[in-house]
Amino acid sequence: KKIAVFASGSGSNFQAIAVAAQSGILNADISLLVCDKPGAFAVDRAEMLRIPVLVISPKSYPSKAAYEAEILQRLISLDVEMIVLAGYMRLIGPTLLEAYEGKIVNIHPSLLPAFPGKDAIGQALAAGVETTGVTIHFVDEGMDTGPIIASAEVKIDASETMESLQKKIQRIEHSMYPDVLEELLNGEEEAVQWEKSVH
Ligand code: GRF
Repeated sequence: KKIAVFASGSGSNFQAIAVAAQSGILNADISLLVCDKPGAFAVDRAEMLRIPVLVISPKSYPSKAAYEAEILQRLISLDVEMIVLAGYMRLIGPTLLEAYEGKIVNIHPSLLPAFPGKDAIGQALAAGVETTGVTIHFVDEGMDTGPIIASAEVKIDASETMESLQKKIQRIEHSMYPDVLEELLNGEEEAVQWEKSVH
């Protein structure tokens, strides 16, 4: 199965997915990285991993529809079957949603529906909750809405800082995302149950 990963920033999840695919843990072909931020570190990672990159700035297009149409054209030319969002800081519009209905997934650093949107880790810390986590879900037109596929809990310790919590969450994401994608692409029909243990 051919996958395109969309990222806007560091791309550590993109790298975890690409390495899993290249080492055969994830039975998929990472055909393209789409990056909307020229200069993002995700682009350097793609070059190191020898994965083709489409760097595309929405500012160069008159509308979101035109921007997404350009991306869509590339995805179709590569026979991409699934879109994996990994720190892509933009809502997906109707052009891509309609073309890839039910085939776009996202990872979010909270237990959705709690703390959607930006800075989910900071939101959880500020709220003083004892547990947060990671959620992988199908993408719809909303912000971090859409049916949940898998989630994992992360305990927030009394001494937790932004940095320590971010580290814990990212470590889980990097093993969870490739595993859940493998289940989704090549697993049984049953709902994906990623280990809901405490990390
Ligand atoms: C991840 O924490 C992900 O959950 C969120 O954005 C972050 C992306 O990090 N959607 P990276 O670019 O993969 O390092």
